Amino acid sequence: MVRIRNITRADPLYVQECALREKVLLRDVGLTIESFQNLFPGVEERFEHFVAVFDHPSGERVIGCALLLPHFPESGVGKLMQMVVDPQRQNEGIGRKLVVAVESRAFGELGLREIFCHARNVAYGFYERLGWEYDSDVFMEADSPHRRMVIRNPEPAPI
Ligand SMILES: CC(C)(COP(=O)(O)OP(=O)(O)OC[C@H]1O[C@@H](n2cnc3c(N)ncnc32)[C@H](O)[C@@H]1OP(=O)(O)O)[C@@H](O)C(=O)NCCC(=O)NCCS
Repeated sequence: MVRIRNITRADPLYVQECALREKVLLRDVGLTIESFQNLFPGVEERFEHFVAVFDHPSGERVIGCALLLPHFPESGVGKLMQMVVDPQRQNEGIGRKLVVAVESRAFGELGLREIFCHARNVAYGFYERLGWEYDSDVFMEADSPHRRMVIRNPEPAPI
C-alpha cells in the first residue's frame, strides 16, 4: 500500500528522496542535489517535501516525490518542482496521488490561489490528465522543451 507523507529535511526519508531525485531527474541534466541547491539558492529549505512510500521488510521505501515551493514567485502562488516516480513504479497512479496531496495542502491549509510547474514535454500529458492547463508557449530549460502548466484553486479565498 503506497501512502503519501509530507516530510521535513530532518526525516530519515529525506536521504532516500534526494537519492531518487538524483537518479531519475538530476543526473540526466548533469546536476546533483548539491549543484541543484546552488542553482536555486535557499529553495531546498523552503520546499514542502511530499514523498510516496511503501512498507518494505527493511523499513519504509521512497518511490516518488513532489516538492511544493509556497508563495513563489509571489504571495498566493506555489511552484511544483522535482516531480518524480521511480521508473519501476510508474503508471500505477503514484504520481497522481502525489499531485493530489500537493494540491490539497496548497489549496487547503495554505490557501494558495494557483500552483504552476515547468513541465517537460514528456510530462505534458500527465499534468493534463490531472486537470492542469498550459499557459505558456514552449521554452527551453535544462536543454529540453518545457511549458508552464497551471492549476487554479477551485475555491479561492474571497478577496
Ligand atoms: C511523469 C511522472 C511523474 C508520472 O508519474 P506516474 O506515477 O507514472 O503517473 P500516474 O500513474 O499517476 O498517471 C496518472 C495519469 O497520467 C497518465 N500519464 C502518466 N504519465 C504520462 C505521460 N508521460 N504522458 C501522458 N500521460 C501520462 C496516466 O496514464 C494516468 O492516466 P489515467 O488517469 O487516465 O489512468 C513519471 O512518469 C516520472 O517520474 N517521469 C520521469 C520524471 C519526470 O519527467 N518528471 C516530470 C518533470 S516535469
